[in-house]
Amino acid sequence: MEFISIQEALDKQKGKVKLRGWCYRERGSNAVRFIVMRDSTNIIQCVFVKQDIPAELWQDAEKIKMESSFEVEGEIVKNDKAPTNYEIKVEKLKIVDLGEDFPIAKDFSQEFLLDNRHLWLRSRKMTAMLKIRSTVFGAIHEYFRSEDFYEYHSPIFQSVQCEGGSDLFSVDYFGKKDVFLAQTWQLYAEPAIFSLEKIYTIAPSFRAEKSKTSRHLTEYWHAEMEIAWSTFKDIQEYGEKLIKYVIKKVLEKHKEDLKTLKRDISKLKPVIEKPFVRMTYTEALKILKEKCGMDIEWGKDLRTIEETKLTQLYDVPIICTHYPKIVKAFYMTEDKDNPDVVLGFDFLAPEGYGEIIGGSQREHDIEKIKQRLIDEGEDVSHYEFYLDTRRYGSVPHGGFGLGIERLITWICGLDNIKDAIPFPRTMLRFKP
Ligand code: 4AD
Ligand code: MG
Repeated sequence: MEFISIQEALDKQKGKVKLRGWCYRERGSNAVRFIVMRDSTNIIQCVFVKQDIPAELWQDAEKIKMESSFEVEGEIVKNDKAPTNYEIKVEKLKIVDLGEDFPIAKDFSQEFLLDNRHLWLRSRKMTAMLKIRSTVFGAIHEYFRSEDFYEYHSPIFQSVQCEGGSDLFSVDYFGKKDVFLAQTWQLYAEPAIFSLEKIYTIAPSFRAEKSKTSRHLTEYWHAEMEIAWSTFKDIQEYGEKLIKYVIKKVLEKHKEDLKTLKRDISKLKPVIEKPFVRMTYTEALKILKEKCGMDIEWGKDLRTIEETKLTQLYDVPIICTHYPKIVKAFYMTEDKDNPDVVLGFDFLAPEGYGEIIGGSQREHDIEKIKQRLIDEGEDVSHYEFYLDTRRYGSVPHGGFGLGIERLITWICGLDNIKDAIPFPRTMLRFKP
């Protein structure tokens, strides 16, 4: 008999099946043992009744413990009391590896689970998140390809900063100075729009974040896009369609996984059905004052607490635009009607999740870019390759970056971004 997956066995509902997997949990008495097997697809209860089976089979069943790997053959039958409503009356059992006592049994504290992340990946919650994560990555590729974007790759070792020098990781590059890990692909993506026009990537980005928040990783996966001939509105629309597409795919495929994560999926439905809310930074300040009693001085960036309060007022993401020039990066273009603000935007996820996307229309004027780099204390000569994008047939263009773990945190309703990636890296954690 061929092995089938647990889910296939559950779908089959009757007859003989042959399965392999790991012991999720076990219990029983001197007369009967229940061993719940798990594989990547689901769990199923395996039943051993002492008086009905050979002594040898019973003895093997008694040995199996948490995370032992084993194979079984037997009859699948309905039992409403079993965890997935079916069970297997086991006729044959083969222990593949009994294993040592599994370390994760009593201590479920955050730090202990992070120290044992390589083992905790087997948990039902991590498995559900990892499956959703896989779909999110796939859906991002599908979306951009369906819109005729080319996949393009920037270097990870870079010689310039883009999002501010304060959270750059410097690398010891054969003793050379001024080599950094990518914060973004952007300065190496803009040159390629002159060749491909519409490009995207999914790649790791690195930020030496000194903050210990539930939203920041030092290594995260970044989906970015850049397009030639864009208007400010075009870029936002791609962002909105991308988010809708990804969430639709997750809802189609992962109702059970979202249930395992205790995610209320009714909170995600409006995101597909309704247009996102658009407001300017200045309007956001007004709403924060009127509805949340938070008085923020114009020109200050929105902090986490303010984004949280603001996004709790809506059931769809907010596209917040026209931020003060002083809080945004050097490459964002000024609004010609008000040079104090830039044509930059953030997508703020609802329910308090906050920023998931940052993007902008890019500054066209080479002199303005140079001046802003100088104002930031940068050596303009390092940016000559980038400035060439404004020298030879420049066109209006722009793009955005989506923090994939931020998106997964929100979709899965997680409390901490660390649970949206297999091996989180933060200021205090780089092991295992
Ligand atoms: O807003 P950011 O800094 O924008 C850029 O990097 C632009 N160059 C993107 C572009 O236009 N191509 O970062 C983009 C997104 C943020 O909205 C956030 O979702 C995520 O990256 N992000 C982080 N995610 C996890 N941990 C961190 N430390 C993050 N920093 C940014
Ligand atoms: Mg940002």
